[in-house]
Amino acid sequence: MSRYWSDIVSKLRPYVAGEQPRIPGLVKLNTNENPYGPSPKAIEAIRQTADDRLRLYPDPAAIELREAIAARFDVTVEEVFVGNGSDELLAHTFQALLKHDRPLLYPDVTYSFYPTYSLLYDVEAIEVPLDDQFRIRLSDYDRPCGAIIIPNPNAPTGIGLPLSGIEALLAAHPDAVVVIDEAYVDFGGESAVPLISRYPNLLVIQTFSKSRSFAGLRVGFALGHRDLIEALVRVKDSFNSYPLDRLAQVAATAAIKDEAWFETSRRKIIATRENLIRELEALDFEVLPSLANFIFARHESRPGAALLAGLRERGVLVRHFAKPRISEFLRISIGTDEECARLVAALKEILAA
Ligand SMILES: Cc1ncc(COP(=O)(O)O)c(C=O)c1O
Repeated sequence: MSRYWSDIVSKLRPYVAGEQPRIPGLVKLNTNENPYGPSPKAIEAIRQTADDRLRLYPDPAAIELREAIAARFDVTVEEVFVGNGSDELLAHTFQALLKHDRPLLYPDVTYSFYPTYSLLYDVEAIEVPLDDQFRIRLSDYDRPCGAIIIPNPNAPTGIGLPLSGIEALLAAHPDAVVVIDEAYVDFGGESAVPLISRYPNLLVIQTFSKSRSFAGLRVGFALGHRDLIEALVRVKDSFNSYPLDRLAQVAATAAIKDEAWFETSRRKIIATRENLIRELEALDFEVLPSLANFIFARHESRPGAALLAGLRERGVLVRHFAKPRISEFLRISIGTDEECARLVAALKEILAA
């Protein structure tokens, strides 16, 4: 705390990201990164662009990238917004679309950036409890509200919602923006993008960080009615006209066009996930039904914090949230088959001790 700070700073509760330690040989399953690299075509695009042109500002509207995204999702370019990771998009969304006289609704167990942004942008929020099986019960959202934000699949549970439920939610709240955060949808979920043409209150947010393996590049995008997109553009252009640099724009454009790479990588991750779930269940873990590139699991007798520490001693990093209801769970990102085998071997050692 310093006397030079603006008032709001001391009230903020900043998001704590999973650690990025520089320990060689570590099995890093703590931040839901993709274990396979991004499309080689995207890396080549960066190589081709890393030259003297970097002295010039990038296209502030990222037209080529937005056209490529529009073509991939069968929407118009006016229905696409891009930003520096979906976190930045979420921030702009909280400020531009989620602050109203009535409260914002989101699940009590969800992406922990939502409460952080609510404080930053002074958005009144109500946390709607998950049911006793850690599922989002959409009927609980049938109450007066200014807006709703839900990840599908939810994080950190990995549990998905059917499209029919999301459509019913949109229809029940024509006066509220409903944001569906689809950071993990490509690992088995049902995307709400096809509903955009019929629901002007729907904003879908996706990211290149997970299924397109570009967490280090920072590119996310939002799809929705042009009026919603215009609100985001107004906030962006009052904040930073150039959130995506030249390299990010060309790489993301190449990545979104490389459907074959995307398919292969996401299918490998889904297959490894299903295998890992079976192995953990055999070790007496309860694993929530995941449609994401991570699983959320608790052991029938060993505390989550102890397992976390035991794994760390054995060079395996996973994520643990010391929060009510979920403190016995570990969130484990899906790595390669070899990485998951090391995780399972470490868990067997710990459980045998
Ligand atoms: C639900 C959810 N939304 C959004 C993000 C942000 O991803 P990025 O900023 O890398 O696009 C994450 C990252 O872990 C997430 O879990």
